[in-house]
Amino acid sequence: MSETGTFWLPPASSTFAGDVDGLFYFIYWVCVVSFAILVGATFWFAWHYRKREGGPPVQQLTHSTVLEVAWSVIPGIIMIAMFVWGFKTFVAMNIAPSDSMVVYVTGQKWSWDFTYANGRNVPGELHVPVNKPVKLIMNSKDVIHSFFVPEFRVKMDVIPGRYTTLWFEATTTGEKQVFCTEYCGKDHSAMLAKVVVQTQEEFDAYMDTDPFAGMSLLERGEKIYNENACKGCHSLDGSAIVAPSFKGLWGKEETLADGSTVKVDADYILSSLRDPGSQVVEGFGPIMPVYTEQQVADENVLGLIEYIKSVK
Ligand code: CUA
Repeated sequence: MSETGTFWLPPASSTFAGDVDGLFYFIYWVCVVSFAILVGATFWFAWHYRKREGGPPVQQLTHSTVLEVAWSVIPGIIMIAMFVWGFKTFVAMNIAPSDSMVVYVTGQKWSWDFTYANGRNVPGELHVPVNKPVKLIMNSKDVIHSFFVPEFRVKMDVIPGRYTTLWFEATTTGEKQVFCTEYCGKDHSAMLAKVVVQTQEEFDAYMDTDPFAGMSLLERGEKIYNENACKGCHSLDGSAIVAPSFKGLWGKEETLADGSTVKVDADYILSSLRDPGSQVVEGFGPIMPVYTEQQVADENVLGLIEYIKSVK
């Protein structure tokens, strides 16, 4: 397996990559050779049997059984090989081993969020151990997204209202890029995340550390703002296209969709996270997703409040 990638393909970093790439190159070369034979024969016949002065009259054409059987059976065998190879790989990619480590993935405009079995929730970064099968159980909070890791050769749609799954086993450590490959609105192209593949020891150590250790409330708030979807909609410079800007927001009187007013205080910020549909500011759509206690813990909501206060 290639670790640097080729002109056509990125580096191969999962157990599937060998089969996926092998099948890709097999189909690719079958196409190249078939194209060369067909186009070459077309030109050769056109030239060889061109009309010439004094040439023999065209004879009545009949058929060649040998030729016809050959050009049916040989492509037939090649097609069956493509199907069998593709089907076996497809089945392997769809059935996760029973000892897979499960991680839950939530897609939303415009971020990825990862939750481990121990309840740990990390936006934007999926840490996994190398050489261990990992099964992702995925769901969307809003529209259809698609989770794509080119280096693993895996991609699966992420759909609201149902769970889809995907599995892989990474074969090399390091950071792999995650893309969203289903157009999902303004910041579709910025809906990125990283898969960080670590040795088992590094991964265990990572799972044991508190990501907010030693951070002030303000630093927690800034980290949450940058790593969740907040920054996709809430600007820091006063511009407010899809949602209110954080600039000068603290203490402001906001008019809600039902005409009532509310002061932006700690209560309002907490309810905007836990129950965003209850107090939608006039002029904006109800697009803010819910953030549960598990995703943004109460002490980190305090961090977010400090952060919003700091954006003047
Ligand atoms: Cu999410 Cu495109």
